Amino acid sequence: MIPTLEWLPAGVNFLDQTKLPLEETYVLATDYKQVATVIRDMIVRGAPAIGVSAAMGVAIGVDRSTAASLPALTEEVAVIAKTLAETRPTAVNLFWAIQRMRDKYNALAAANTPIPEIKAALIAEARQMYDEDIAACKQMGAHGAALLPQEGTVLTHCNAGALATCGYGTALGVIRAAVERGHKIDVFADETRPYLQGARLTAWELLHDNIPTTVLCDNMAGALMRQGRIQAVIVGADRIAANGDTANKIGTYSVAVLAKEHGIPFYVAAPLSTIDLATAHGDLIPIEQRAATEVTHSNGKQMTPNGAAIQNPAFDVTPAKYITAIITERGVLRAPYNESIQQMATEANSQ
Ligand code: MRU
Repeated sequence: MIPTLEWLPAGVNFLDQTKLPLEETYVLATDYKQVATVIRDMIVRGAPAIGVSAAMGVAIGVDRSTAASLPALTEEVAVIAKTLAETRPTAVNLFWAIQRMRDKYNALAAANTPIPEIKAALIAEARQMYDEDIAACKQMGAHGAALLPQEGTVLTHCNAGALATCGYGTALGVIRAAVERGHKIDVFADETRPYLQGARLTAWELLHDNIPTTVLCDNMAGALMRQGRIQAVIVGADRIAANGDTANKIGTYSVAVLAKEHGIPFYVAAPLSTIDLATAHGDLIPIEQRAATEVTHSNGKQMTPNGAAIQNPAFDVTPAKYITAIITERGVLRAPYNESIQQMATEANSQ
């Protein structure tokens, strides 16, 4: 399996996604501030992967702490959590993971657990989240595989694969599961300007698994849909609002509208940790704005004239009405999403 991130005794080891596909190098983060930098600089990226990375950041921060009392450690945990939460604003998995680690810490601290035991328990919790993430991806694959054509071409946008999770992937996990079940699938990977997650990462990881992949410029999908050359679209998600509106990589919305126009099913694959019941609809999802240089420059070379104004929102929101189904680890959600999401969340919480 592609080693996106790994807990090691020396720290958290990250495959450096800024260097792919040309270099396969690793960055070892040995304290929580370095984990925060790795997330902010997109050495690791993708909603589930940054969630587990943040959990490991909390674990490493507590593990390396020299606090001699629980009140002192509690203050440090608040600083660690704040630092990690300020890295990227859109993917809700980040905040979900930090909160889960804080809940674990608070329960242990309330029971006056000795500090060495708290440290061990938080490391174990983060490592368990890593295992759960891979298991959730495999379950999404099992639920979603049958939705993909027995034979045909599936379009994806950005990278929602092993690289965006702890392994296997969400949208690419469903594709992998379909291929494992005998479907003959070719993938069209949108290049995904400006950061090129599709061209650099999706193509790299699918070819690694021998899944035939063709890279498209982002403006080609419509023409190929019109020619009948795309049978389904599947993408991941950074945050799904309570009504099913879905934030994902910029450009996803355009693909969804095109898919609807051409009668092509548009699927979202995401774990329940990506669903944000506290956000009623997509307009309330915070959208990260990234540096203009990601648009103005390519490989260090300036592409736009001096003085050109630049827009660089990293995500957009696809309204729920464009989404054929949302594939989760607990099953497939259909419209009306405000009801199906609520029902699944209630079932999950009651177990
Ligand atoms: O900016 P990124 O690369 O972190 O954005 C990633 C995406 O938009 C993915 O599609 C999303 O996180 C789903 S990952 C399984």
